[in-house]
Amino acid sequence: MEPIANLNGKQMPLADVMIPALDRGFLFGDAVYEVLRVYRGRLWLENGHWERLARSLSAIRIPLTPPSPPRGEGGVRGVDLVRLRQRVLETIAAGSFLEATVYVQITRGVAPRAHAFPANAVPLEFLYVKEFKDSYAEFRQTGAAVITLPDIRWDRCDIKSTNLLANILAAQAAKEAGCQEALLYLPDGTLTEGTHTSFFGVLNGSLLTAPTTPAILPGITRGLILRLAQTDGIPVQEHVLKRDDLKNVSELLLTGTTSEVLPITRVDGHPVADAKPGPISRRLQAAYANAVAEFVR
Ligand code: PDD
Repeated sequence: MEPIANLNGKQMPLADVMIPALDRGFLFGDAVYEVLRVYRGRLWLENGHWERLARSLSAIRIPLTPPSPPRGEGGVRGVDLVRLRQRVLETIAAGSFLEATVYVQITRGVAPRAHAFPANAVPLEFLYVKEFKDSYAEFRQTGAAVITLPDIRWDRCDIKSTNLLANILAAQAAKEAGCQEALLYLPDGTLTEGTHTSFFGVLNGSLLTAPTTPAILPGITRGLILRLAQTDGIPVQEHVLKRDDLKNVSELLLTGTTSEVLPITRVDGHPVADAKPGPISRRLQAAYANAVAEFVR
């Protein structure tokens, strides 16, 4: 099945989508996005993704259309998330997608190039659904390798912006080092997250992950893992890990919409503990699989 897209309400093959050159997403990265997972034809953790999209839009001041706009009121055109969700569901149905990812991007729209917001731009609403090819399956079993790199991103990493140049450069450096991901750290050594994943470590028996400050994206999978860990009786804390802690951790793992729960077994060429996925990683993988099984039942 070829990927199917929807651009501003019009469904078409992804390959046929044309974005105007003056779109501000293209020119400035003036846009936000989401990636959702579809299991057995159903949208996984969708409330979390729609809420985060609403927060990202509001952070960059793209208005949301209230569910029932007052009659006769004109003004700035906003994004209607109920309608957007409907388009996502129609696109999934159109391709009878079962295992898929959904990419949704909203830009500030098309306008003559000028940095400040244009007066009358209409947000561009783009989405596509694509069959999911699991490139992490093997690494979930054997464990992934990562490198650590300085986090050179901006101070609002909580906004899921399409400005991903720093993430891309770090991901490419990881790939060139034969690794699956790069872990990013701040000047004081605080480990924030991966280039497209959230990050957890096990230190003295507790599962730790960076608290949700503007320095990280509040991962939807991260949120689920925190809940699953609690239910499973795993001691868990939102507490930063520093780069210096890496030599003392018993386990490290990444989470994300497409990576799910991915144990890390090598950091900067050094083994993590015995270089095998650890017991807490295995428990969280099982809990995640159970949650999905329950969802699709
Ligand atoms: N990335 N941190 C960053 C910087 C991310 O880009 C992502 C998601 C995550 C994990 O968030 P979630 O659990 O909500 O997927 C953490 C998506 C998948 C991407 O850019 O493709």
